Amino acid sequence: MKPVQIREDIWWVGGIDWDLRNFHGYSTERGSTYNAYLIVDEKITLIDNVKHYLYDEMIERIAQVVDPAKIDIIVQNHAEMDHSGGLPKLMKLCPNAKLYCSPNGVKNLEMQFHQDWPFSPVQNGQTLNLGKRNLQFVLTPMVHWPDNMVSYCPEEKILFSNDAFGQHIASSERFDDEYPYSIYLEQARKYYANIVLPYGKMVQKVLADLGGVQLEMLCPSHGLITRKYLKELLGEYVKWSSNTTEKKALIIYDTMWDSTRKMAMAVESAFEEKGIKTTMFNLQHTHISDIMTEAITASHICIGSPTLNNNILPTVASFLTYMCGLAPTGRIGLAFGSYGWGGQGVGIINDRLTEAGFTMLKPIRFQYVPGQDDLAAVKKHVEDQL
Ligand code: FEO
Repeated sequence: MKPVQIREDIWWVGGIDWDLRNFHGYSTERGSTYNAYLIVDEKITLIDNVKHYLYDEMIERIAQVVDPAKIDIIVQNHAEMDHSGGLPKLMKLCPNAKLYCSPNGVKNLEMQFHQDWPFSPVQNGQTLNLGKRNLQFVLTPMVHWPDNMVSYCPEEKILFSNDAFGQHIASSERFDDEYPYSIYLEQARKYYANIVLPYGKMVQKVLADLGGVQLEMLCPSHGLITRKYLKELLGEYVKWSSNTTEKKALIIYDTMWDSTRKMAMAVESAFEEKGIKTTMFNLQHTHISDIMTEAITASHICIGSPTLNNNILPTVASFLTYMCGLAPTGRIGLAFGSYGWGGQGVGIINDRLTEAGFTMLKPIRFQYVPGQDDLAAVKKHVEDQL
């Protein structure tokens, strides 16, 4: 439980959540961290906080650097409970510490904790002097909650970016260059797809604001600190936030008696025939949050379900709800599936994707079990529209 020095007098003092596997519906197979950063300047400053059950771990780390009761300033970049759970105990420990957050952060923390804490709401662009260093606050509403802000230290060229630029990774390594790059990037992509995707326009504004800022370190509130792959990660954020897709089809389905799976394979053949990359996902075997990692750059999203009780399979309904909430835009969609008698399932998918703004290919459904000729017809039906 050691603190990690990231610069002279600046320490990582967060908590590591090794066992986290579910972050409100997002599968976190590598766990996560809640990063807090301690700046020992004339004013002893703590940036961000941890989930409630990692409070003792954070305090143990801080105590190896300074007496935690001597903290003068607490900067709460974001009020969500994974970063504020330790705040009630911390405010008891440091009753004279001033609590800096955005005006919406004040509202959120008041509604969460119902405490009369010494809040200091900050305005966009406001600077706070810590002694040798300053913190500049930039409000970043809806990246990804209304209260979000980031804190920039110009003397150190460090951006404390809270949820932005994070990844759900639990590790003893603290920096991007100490960890396998492919996993770091994959987890950054998954994080963006499952947390940040609906807020692309706001992310672009933040990226534009950062354009003229000198940056040597991105210190997020989850996962690894980025110091080596700054250009790469910022470049990926530019791509993801601008909704840039590549010619790639995701074929996502569930099946009852194998007919919809056979149709999915025929749909896949159509894309293959046209030289378009495909990835197949059976919802029985793949978590919806992993599908979203692929969906952020896919041009075509094809969804199949058999009809069950005049509806679609619950797995497919769950994915549709999740994906439409994350609101990918500018995609081409296809609904397909088999049925026994009513056959409403494909129409339900088609309507849901249309409502979500997808440009829909003509849907295709098949009664009972498709034979070879029927599957060839499914393939042709799709191929003719590509
Ligand atoms: Fe990591 Fe929005 O909390």
